[in-house]
Amino acid sequence: QNLTVSNKPETDNWDKLYQDIRACRACSLCESRTQTVPGVGDETADWLFIGEAPGAEEDKQGEPFVGTAGKLLDNMLLATGLRRGEQVYIANVLKCRPPNNRDPLPEEVNACRPFLKRQIDLIAPKQIVALGKFAANTLLAQETTLSSLRGKVHESHGIPVIVTYHPAYLLRNLPDKAKAWEDLCLAKNTINQPR
Ligand code: URA
Repeated sequence: QNLTVSNKPETDNWDKLYQDIRACRACSLCESRTQTVPGVGDETADWLFIGEAPGAEEDKQGEPFVGTAGKLLDNMLLATGLRRGEQVYIANVLKCRPPNNRDPLPEEVNACRPFLKRQIDLIAPKQIVALGKFAANTLLAQETTLSSLRGKVHESHGIPVIVTYHPAYLLRNLPDKAKAWEDLCLAKNTINQPR
C-alpha cells in the first residue's frame, strides 16, 4: 500500500513535458514521424517564435527550423538583435511532421495544443512572434488572413503576440521581406515598452 500523501499541486516541468511529447500518440502523425520535434532554445527566454509544423529536415534532426526556412529565420532573429538559443525559444504548433508537409488537420492541432500551452506557461515569454497564418490563427483562436493580423499587437495567454510572415513564404515572396522586418521592429518596440 502506498501511504505517501502530498498536498503539493502537481507542477509541470521541462523533463516531464519533453517526455510527454516524445511518448505522444494522440493523433495519427505518431505513425509517420521519425521523431517528435518539441522545440529548442532558452527555456526562460523573453522571446518565443512559433511556426507551423516540422518539415523533412526537422523530422530528421529533431529540431525546429533547421532547413532553408530555418536559415532565413536565423537572419530574422539577427535582424532583431537575437540569436537562436539566446533569449529565444523556437517551437511549432505541431510537434510531429505531417506527411509530405501537408497542412495540419484541425484534429492534429487540437491534439497538440496542450503541449504548446505548457511550453508558453513554462517559458512565460515577454513576446510571442507567430510565424505565418497558421500559427497566428491557432494562437489567436480565429480564422483570418495574415495581412489583417499584421501590424497590430495581439494577445494570447496574457502575452503580446506579433504576427509576421512564415520564413518559407518569404523565400518564395522575397519582396515581402521588408514587411517582415517591419513586423519584427514592432515586436522589438512592444517588448521594450513597460507593461
Ligand atoms: N516550417 C515550420 O513551420 N516549422 C519548422 O520547424 C520548419 C519549417
